[in-house]
Amino acid sequence: MSTRRAWLASAAALPLAAVGQNKPAITLRFSHVVAEETPKGLAAKRFKELVAQRSGGRISVQVFPNAQLYGDHDEMQALQLGAVDMVAPSLSKFGRIGLPEFELFDLPFLFDDLASVRRLTQGRLGQKLLQGLSHQGLVGLGYFDNGFKQMSANRPLLEPKDFIGLRMRIQASRVIAAQMRALGAHPVTLAFSETHRALASGVVDGTENPVSNFWTQAMHEVQSDLSLTNHGYLGYAVVTNQRFWHSLRVADRELINQAMQEALAFANQIADAQNDNALQALRQTGSTRIHELSADQRVQLRRVVQPVQQQLAHRIGKAWINALQAALLQGVG
Ligand code: LMR
Repeated sequence: MSTRRAWLASAAALPLAAVGQNKPAITLRFSHVVAEETPKGLAAKRFKELVAQRSGGRISVQVFPNAQLYGDHDEMQALQLGAVDMVAPSLSKFGRIGLPEFELFDLPFLFDDLASVRRLTQGRLGQKLLQGLSHQGLVGLGYFDNGFKQMSANRPLLEPKDFIGLRMRIQASRVIAAQMRALGAHPVTLAFSETHRALASGVVDGTENPVSNFWTQAMHEVQSDLSLTNHGYLGYAVVTNQRFWHSLRVADRELINQAMQEALAFANQIADAQNDNALQALRQTGSTRIHELSADQRVQLRRVVQPVQQQLAHRIGKAWINALQAALLQGVG
């Protein structure tokens, strides 16, 4: 038997797994700071699966959840330096790298529902915001939701007076800091991965997040009260660095981008359910008192934080705020 025929015979005999064990031609490192059972964690997992399927294993996505590699303080820098290839920070965390216009998403009581958020993120305004990433050597691949944020502490937070004097952990966003100050609280910027420990040790008294993050970080172990305020939105942008992105062949870039768009659509489909399931699990533990606000209590909360938009207009950019309001009024993005 010729050498070639012998090689073909031996290759055919190999189980598929062995063939798949060849080293991937491309390995994409995706780092994020939340648990796997969250909208972001599940989006990353779905993205990884789609890329592996579509590329036949030639492109591999390595996901590093729970700030295993990089956390809030250094994930963006790691991306810009090429230490990782993809991150998906919350929109609140772009102000810190010189893109304060992204903090418009942090304006309290700005959105009535996720549909109005998606009109922005999937419309012209959202695309224009992503274009700004190029100034930081980054490429924005798209947006997806977590959901609306709730307030927690070791006392019920139902009226503005309940917040006075509390040290509240926040993300690195001047808009969120102004929101907490308007409530008479003291904003304390801490990395997401440090929040549970800071609450447990009393470094901070409370925080805000969608329930999926509250639950998966076991904040119910260190917070006696959760108020369903729905006062602000938390969502994400998926970002890669220009060097990595432009190093890819066009076909690979298209494959990765298509897989990402499908993963983002999947994340938006499950985000509500993830937060609903987390709230249900929280109710079942009975460890945290869960408070619904009355209509009047929401009106009072909204009144107190209303000035934040005016106060921070200069930081976000009046043109961005005008464009946002026009888009929301017209019901287009
Ligand atoms: C936070 O820092 O509270 C959130 O941005 C974490 C996340 O990525 O959902």
